[in-house]
Amino acid sequence: MKLAVLGPGALGCLIAALFREAGVEVSLVDYRPDRAARLRLRGIQVHSLEGVQRVVEVPIGLAPEVGPCDLTIVAVKAYQTETAARVLPELMSQGGVALTLQNGLGNLETMARTVGTSRLLAGVGLLGVTRQDEGRIIYAGRGVIFIGAPAGSQVAASEVAAVVDLFRGAGLECQPRENIEAVLWEKLVINAGINPLTALLRVPNGALLKLPEAWEVAVAAAAEAQAVAQAAGLTLSGDPAARLRQVCDHTAANRSSMLQDILAGRPTEIEAINAQVATRGRALGLLTPVNDLLTLLIRAATQSAPFTVA
Ligand code: PAF
Repeated sequence: MKLAVLGPGALGCLIAALFREAGVEVSLVDYRPDRAARLRLRGIQVHSLEGVQRVVEVPIGLAPEVGPCDLTIVAVKAYQTETAARVLPELMSQGGVALTLQNGLGNLETMARTVGTSRLLAGVGLLGVTRQDEGRIIYAGRGVIFIGAPAGSQVAASEVAAVVDLFRGAGLECQPRENIEAVLWEKLVINAGINPLTALLRVPNGALLKLPEAWEVAVAAAAEAQAVAQAAGLTLSGDPAARLRQVCDHTAANRSSMLQDILAGRPTEIEAINAQVATRGRALGLLTPVNDLLTLLIRAATQSAPFTVA
């Protein structure tokens, strides 16, 4: 099976490196030729929390160089999905599958605009992985990846099982899920709580457990997200606070992806996370004041970067 991993961010680098080490035919796909050339030269540096470092040489190229693949994993930031979707038609082989492993909601819809829904899969990962520098990542927290066929997908259960086996073969804990929409929302609930708070306070995930006021806001944001999911007819497992606590605990040392974006001066995924909770809540007649405010604060934090005092 030939694989492409679209996006050399923290998650993309980790997955591509693990597949490569497992002997899978995999390429990392970048849209920037300069960065692709640098990464090809240096390889992907994977650091563990224990300080162990290894360099994995992963083939890296632009979409036309990589060509059609049986499985294309979309691991770009939610605000780059539109760009990624444009190259999907040349990366997906006839009968190939595209799997989104991104945060937030709206990615599947964007991908469907260029390749339709029938060969799409959605995945949800709760891994703690931090990008230190171009191609240099810290694998800070292991976590399970769930994969399933969303509404409109015609990918067979046997094909989902084959993708799950591929992930397991690369040393990742992976499980198939029939109700992947609910799992996407369960992740959204977690991201709605952890990501904006850690980004605004500039703390690792585990610190939220030690900051009672921050924790209260995180739980309130997560509870609003859970209420919107339930109003949309989805049944999410467990209590949002308990789920939030578990993820903060498992990824305690990790810098959330939104914190990493804020620190690097990049756009954030706020529009695909808290803003989605607010928009979808409004459409269902639900108020989500905590998510509204967190959305505004993160937008403000992004805009205020040029004015920050030393
Ligand atoms: O976005 C993130 O950083 C991750 O989804 C998670 C699970 C919150 C860990 O940091």
